[in-house]
This record gives sequence, structure tokens and C-alpha cells, in this order.
Amino acid sequence: MNVIRTFEDYQHHYQKSIEHPENFWSDVAHGFTWRKKWDKVLEWDFNKPSVKWFIGGKLNITENCLDRHLTNHANRTAIIWEPNNPDEDARHITYQQLFEEVCKTANMLKAQGVKKGDRVCIYLPMIPELAYAVLACARIGAVHSVVFAGFSAKSIADRINDAGCNVVVTSDGAYRGDKTINLKKIIDEAVQHCPSVSKVIVKEYIKSGAPLTPGRDVWWHDEIAKVSADCPAEEMDAEDLLFILYTSGSTGKPKGMVHTCGGYMVYTNYTFRTTFQYQEGQVYWCTADIGWVTGHSYILYGPLSAGATTVMFEGVPSWPNPGRFWQVIDRHKVNIFYTAPTAIRSLQQAPLEFVEKYDLSSLRVLGSVGEPINEEAWHWYDKNIGKGQCAIVDTWWQTETGGFMIAPIARVTPLKPAYATLPLPGVQPAVMNEGGLEVNGNNVEGRLTIKFPWPGMARTIYGDHQRFKDTYFSTFPGKYFTGDGCKRDEDGYYRITGRVDDIIIVSGHNLGTAEIESAVDEHPLVTETAVVGYPHDIKGQAVYAFVICYEKPKDEEKLRGEIRDTVSRIIGPIAKPDKIQFVSGLPKTRSGKIMRRILRKVAEGDVSNLGDTTTLLDPAVVDEIKAGAL
Ligand code: WTA
Repeated sequence: MNVIRTFEDYQHHYQKSIEHPENFWSDVAHGFTWRKKWDKVLEWDFNKPSVKWFIGGKLNITENCLDRHLTNHANRTAIIWEPNNPDEDARHITYQQLFEEVCKTANMLKAQGVKKGDRVCIYLPMIPELAYAVLACARIGAVHSVVFAGFSAKSIADRINDAGCNVVVTSDGAYRGDKTINLKKIIDEAVQHCPSVSKVIVKEYIKSGAPLTPGRDVWWHDEIAKVSADCPAEEMDAEDLLFILYTSGSTGKPKGMVHTCGGYMVYTNYTFRTTFQYQEGQVYWCTADIGWVTGHSYILYGPLSAGATTVMFEGVPSWPNPGRFWQVIDRHKVNIFYTAPTAIRSLQQAPLEFVEKYDLSSLRVLGSVGEPINEEAWHWYDKNIGKGQCAIVDTWWQTETGGFMIAPIARVTPLKPAYATLPLPGVQPAVMNEGGLEVNGNNVEGRLTIKFPWPGMARTIYGDHQRFKDTYFSTFPGKYFTGDGCKRDEDGYYRITGRVDDIIIVSGHNLGTAEIESAVDEHPLVTETAVVGYPHDIKGQAVYAFVICYEKPKDEEKLRGEIRDTVSRIIGPIAKPDKIQFVSGLPKTRSGKIMRRILRKVAEGDVSNLGDTTTLLDPAVVDEIKAGAL
């Protein structure tokens, strides 16, 4: 069996996984329900790039997440749904109930014209219907494209058009702390620009009184009442598309990462069980939103395929007070808790009473994801939440990788604060220098690449394979380039140092600077913008925009507010610049390229050594920028 219990097991499995990757993954894959086993485990070529796993295998991922648990565990809780409002009751949805809801939802989608291979956009808050809709798509072979319910109408429309979705599933609104958000209104605005959309299915939830557009919109409750709970799963090829999920890129356009059925299932399940050392009967809680990859892989597919009880939390960490996470852990006796450094840092600011009020003794494993966890946050988490008794697993991975890549195995891998530690079995990292050569040995630093395929990796960018190649396989030919920098210390342990491209990670969300720049430029008074990230105590990084206007702004504060609103409208509130400095010019080279290195230094507040500025077209602009730094 593929179970790791000791560090020697890990070393042994790791060795086997790199010497005989096909045998290793074939052993893991035998633990699933396949309609037909694969003919060949792997075919790959990172130059094309082309990667296929479990070739010829036939399956449906929902048979692995649902049907197979019904024999022995039909009454086990699959999802504990904890509502936004702590005074309302949680819901315990058993595997049997989840199975029925998913089948009904699948039949409803079919009745609305969704067929195998169609793309369905899901724009829902963290309510059970979101899980039903995602799994329902998988059940019938439709490709889900979940869009985080904080994105703007324009961002949704771009994603719907890129994927050519024919159906949208949304709700009349969402609760978020003490606020409500009218999602339907945002969808109405988006769908106006989406000719491919023929149907919008609306879950009535907050009763916002959202009007339906006749012929296009239907109520979830009306349509679900008309269908049966019997929905045989569609037989899928291992390499058929399971979902598309958008992530920010270095250019303005988000990339639709494509994940396929077989490899993704095997990988999310294996990494979930292994890293967290999940034991049958444990309660697991990942605080991410299903709109991000963390929610896809580690709220839904990984835990459900492992028969786990997974908590789905609708609310926010800070409402009604900063004790909310700890209250939920106490309430549901959570054993494994998985969150983001930004959440830890913000909760760390609150008085400890908010933690001490609750009984956290059920906890065994604490996870972290989304950005490098700083040592201070690591220690606070360890001491105050884990009471020094829990394994801390800092999981490094990406939307593109589908699942964990470098992470400790709970209670197996010796920990080092702020280190993602060692690669999981099957993962072969290589550290590259700027000259493009692999640096061998330990105590080295460079760019992180992966030199061998793993089952969970994205196969392409939807509709743009060339961009997939250019972005990930061209910087270091023959290797997958992660976009991250890293250190490998004397013990071979990895510490991720952050992005080395034009992506910044704000509160754990990836944002492309180019995308924010073009959003700021939409303001009628703005001529040009350069955006960089700078260190922020709670968010990890924050957004700093240098903005050139057509004329000197009369009321800078007012204009800053308008620019933030513009970015919010075009991308979503997560991308709003924290600091906006008005400048008369940007430091450009003679070839017109902005020297971001200088802007980053200014944003970081470190202007003592800006390096060589002699190649700039107009070095004087640097003095002005330095003088006006915020
Ligand atoms: C960063 C989230 C350091 C990294 C799963 C990566 C991390 C990007 C960690 C992917 C971690 C994620 N330590 N950095 N444990 N986890 N990152 O696609 O820069 O939203 O490339 O996937 O987040 O973000 P994404």
C-alpha cells in the first residue's frame, strides 16, 4: 500500500517514485474505481509540451468521490456546512445525501441543455449548491469553470467568453460577514457580453428579489423539482477535461488552466491522504473558497475521494469577531485545519482571548498555503493554535500543479519553520540559475523548476497551447518553470522565496501586475501606470501603483478613490491598489521598457541603492519618484 508512516518510508517511497515513476503511480492508481484500467501509465514530452497519464483509462471522478463510499459509509458526513452567521445551525450532509443532490443537480443541468464536453460557469457563494454544481458537472462530463464570487462582471465575462460556456449557475446573492452581495446583478451585467450563454440557473438564497430574464434565466428550485435523483455517471477518458480554472498571468489576460480527470483524481487524493496523514473518521477543514484551486483540490476532490468529512465554511475569519475560525474548530471538533498565512497574520493581531475561549484540543495537523509563511506567523500558529502539539504542513503548490508538490508529511517529515521542506513522492524539483543551468548540491538558490511530470499537472491553457509552452516550458527548455524562486538548504530542504515574475500575491491571491495596470488605465484621467508589489504585514504583499495622469490631479485623494473603484469594477476588490503615487514619468530604458526593479525598491521604501540608472531615458524622473514615495 502507498502509506507512509515514518521518515524511512518517505525516503523509500520517494526513491521508488523517481526510479520507477510509472510503477509508483500505477500502484497508487489501483486504489480507485475505474470503468476500464489504463493501457499505459505515462507518455510525455516537455518540449511540445505534452503530458498524458493513465492512457486509455476510463472513469468518472464522482464515482470515486461518491458512489464508492455508499457501500460502507453512506451515513458518514461528507460535508459539514458552516454558515456565515454563527447563530444559524450547521448542516451535516452525508455521502448518501450528497450523492442524491449531485445526481439531481446533474439531471437539472442536462435538462437545461448541458452535454458532455460543454463548459459551465459556476459563480456561487460557499453554499452546498456550489459543491453540488461542481460535482454535477463532473458527473455528466461537463467542464466546470468556477469563478470566485468576488470577481467583477468584466472578469466573469472574459472567463465565460474564453471558455465558451453555454450555461451559468449563480445565486441571487451571497452573505459575506455583515454584508450581502447581489451576485445575480453582476451576472446579468456579465452575460450581456457573452453570446455563448443560453441559460442562467439561479439559486434563490438571500431573496434579493433579483429579476429573471425570461427565456434565459430559471430558478434552481423550480428546475430541480422536475428531475429524478437517478443519474448514471458519464464514462470519461482519463485525459478528458475535468475543469478549467483561471489564474493570473504576466500579461493582462488570465490563463484558463486545464485539468483532466484521471491524473488529477489520483494526485489530489494521494497528496491529501499523504501530506495530512488523514485517518478515517477525522474532520478536516480547509478555509479556502472553492473559487480557487485550493478549494477544488482540497475541499472537494481530494477529501471526498478519500471519504473524508470536509468542512465548507461560508463566512469570513473576522466576522462577527476574530474568534470565528477557532469557534468553528471547537464546534465541529476539527482535526486537520488548513488555512493561509494572511489569515494567520490578521488573526494574530487580535487579543489571544479570541483563541483561548475555545477548545482546540481536537487539532492534530495545521496546514498553510498560498504564499511563503513567515517565521513569526509559523511560530504563532504552532504555539497558540497547535499548542505545540500539531504538525505544521506548509504546502507549496500552484493552480497549475493541481496538488501539493513540496510539503512536509505530517508527523513524518522533521519540520523547519517557514520551509515547505521536501518534495512529495513523484515530484522532481530542479533549481536553476539565471544562466539556465541546473545548480546541483545543497545550499543553493535559484529558480524552481520541475523536471518530470506528475499526474496532477495542468495539461494546457484552454485554447492557447502556445502560451502554455511559452509560459511554463520555454524559460528552461525541457523543464516546467514554476515562476517561483527558492533556496535549498544544507539538508536539501526547500524554502520558497516568492515569485520571480510579474505576479504578486496579495492575501494569498495571485494578481498579474499587467492586469491591474490596464484596469487603472481605464480611468479617463490616467495615461499610463506601472504596478509593483511591496511587503505588507498582513497581506504578505500589497499593490503599489505609479500613475501618470493627463494633467496634475486637483484632488489626489478623490482620484485615488476613483481609481480604486475602477479597479474594483474591472477586476474585483481584491486587486485594488493600496498605494497610488502620481508621477510625471516612469523610469524607462531607451527601448521603452519600464525598469520595475527601481519601482519595487521605491515601493519597498528602500531608495538608498537603486542600482545602475544610467541606462534610463530620463534619470531625473527617479528623483521625483523617490521624493514623492508614499
Ligand atoms: C505561492 C495556490 C510559498 C507561490 C495553491 C505559487 C506559496 C503561487 C505557497 C501559486 C507556499 C503557494 N509557500 N509560496 N506554501 N503556496 N505559494 O496558483 O508563489 O493560487 O507559485 O495556487 O502561490 O498560487 P495559486
